[in-house]
Order: sequence, then structure tokens, then C-alpha cells
Amino acid sequence: MKHPILTIDGPSGAGKGTVSRVIANQKGWHYLDSGSIYRALAIAVLDQAVDLENKVEIVHLAQRMVLEFSGIEVLTVKLNTVDITARLGTETTGGVASQIAVIPEVRAVLLQKQRDFSQAPGLVADGRDMGTVVFPDAAYKVFLTASAEKRALRRHKQLIEKGFNANLEQITRGIEERDLRDSQRATAPLVQAEGALYVDSTDKTVEQVIKEVLLLIL
Ligand code: DC
Repeated sequence: MKHPILTIDGPSGAGKGTVSRVIANQKGWHYLDSGSIYRALAIAVLDQAVDLENKVEIVHLAQRMVLEFSGIEVLTVKLNTVDITARLGTETTGGVASQIAVIPEVRAVLLQKQRDFSQAPGLVADGRDMGTVVFPDAAYKVFLTASAEKRALRRHKQLIEKGFNANLEQITRGIEERDLRDSQRATAPLVQAEGALYVDSTDKTVEQVIKEVLLLIL
């Protein structure tokens, strides 16, 4: 039998990363943070000062970029041998990632990089299109969401804890913009996959959400 895959899709700040990491660790499975691949490309685009309208060059950058991932709880990411971990989580990186993620050719190039994470004994894949496009045959699918207010509050707290300057109003606006772009794009928009378990984490603790998702796998 092929190894199991759990996909966790949802908007930013729903808690996908935290839940995915805990479950991957607990099961001894691999972990794919697909957002970090889009974020790494965003950093390459920013560093090379590529215009966001220049799709050809963005696709070239996607084809050429070499990514190295290590760790689960503390994920370290190298882009072309340079450690970019500290820059991955910023709102600027997230905003640009969301903008380049609308380009179908970019998504096509990044598809195989994501599928390469699927290895025995199992995989937890977190993103927007894990259950719909990247791993449509996954055995277990979850759609994890929360109210925009709660997600903005969580993101704000996360950024402060990481030592970044964070403004709640700006974050709320950023989240709303990103939600709209990610769910309305023509290619692989954020939608609940068929058969996915719908979990609203607005009034739930991380532990409660994990318990609910684990019931699916057991
Ligand atoms: O999950 P995240 O916030 O790290 O993702 C950053 C952006 O990357 C998100 O706003 C849209 C894009 N993304 C995507 O299009 N598809 C994915 N599977 C993951 C992320």
C-alpha cells in the first residue's frame, strides 16, 4: 500500500502550520509547508528586484531556484544555499508570495517540488491546494479555517513573538487581501476539497483541533 497523505488546506492564520507540525511529529511523517515554497520564490523575486508583471522572469527564477528544507518543529529553509528562514514569515514575503501564486506557469513549475515531499512513511501537506491539486488522491483531507478577526490576531501575536514589528490593522487588511486573491484566482484557488473534513478553529484550542484531525487518521 502507498504511504498515507494528510492534506490541510485553508486561509492564512487558520493554524495549519502548528497543527501540521504536531501531527507530522507525532506520526513520524514528513511535513510539507507549501507556503514556504511560494514564499522562497517571493524572496528570490524581491532580491532580484523582478517586476511582479514580469511573469517570464518569475517563472525562470522558479525553475532555477534550489531549495533545501530541514527540521519540522523549527523549519530551516535555504534558497540557493542561503538561509532565508528569518525572512520567510514576514507580511511582505507573504503578500508577494500570494501575488506570484496566481501565475499558472509558476504553479506548474512548483508542482513537482511539492510532490517530491511525498515519501514513506507518510506526509502532512499544508497549503491552499494540497487536497485539490497537488495530492488529489490523499487518503485524509482537512479544510481548516477561522474567522478573519481571529486569524489576524493570531498572526499579530506570532509576529510579535518572533520579534517583528506588527500592526493589527495592517495585518487584518493584508489577510483580507490575501484571502480574496487566494480564493478567487483562476488556477488552483483556495477551496474545500471534496470529502475534506471542515474544521473551524475560531473558538478551539490547538489541542482540540489536533484531536479532531487525528480522529480522521486513526
Ligand atoms: O501559507 P502561507 O501564508 O505561507 O502562503 C503564502 C502564500 O503562498 C499564500 O498567500 C498563497 C500562496 N500559496 C499558494 O498559492 N498555494 C499553496 N499551496 C500555499 C501557498
